Amino acid sequence: MTFIIDRQADSNALLRQAQALLADCGDAVANAANLASFLFHVLDDVNWVGFYFVSGDELLVGPFQGKPACVRIPLGRGVCGTAAATRTVQRVDDVHAFAGHIACDADTRSEIVLPLVRGTNLLGVLDLDSPRVERFTPDDQAFLEQIAGAYLASLDN
Ligand code: SME
Repeated sequence: MTFIIDRQADSNALLRQAQALLADCGDAVANAANLASFLFHVLDDVNWVGFYFVSGDELLVGPFQGKPACVRIPLGRGVCGTAAATRTVQRVDDVHAFAGHIACDADTRSEIVLPLVRGTNLLGVLDLDSPRVERFTPDDQAFLEQIAGAYLASLDN
């Protein structure tokens, strides 16, 4: 399969591209790997895009693009652990102002983390980091919520 990434596409087109990318497979790790790569390459000003999956009472790093990251994050800790524990999107304009932020890459200045909830089951989180303060807007959040939904919808039962 040749997958052509269109960096100029608007968010609706990007969502359709992501859905197409995930359509042939229902595996959680395989689709996370391709989706992390896709987002990393189509979005500007991101230095880390990836997944953490629930493992016991921790999050364990999954497929990602960017520098090597923290392997384990306790539920409730940092931006990722907070998104997981509260099951709410965490959109952080300035990570230096977020008490408990876990700095995996000192370049990161803003971050958005989306919980991945399937039925009543928390699978993990989708995390995007940027070296630019206030990188992620409410529109970005709405787009990424649709992307997270497309990922969840792609998974086998
Ligand atoms: N900054 C995150 C940790 C994960 S890395 O950014 C990849 C946090 O505070 O949870």
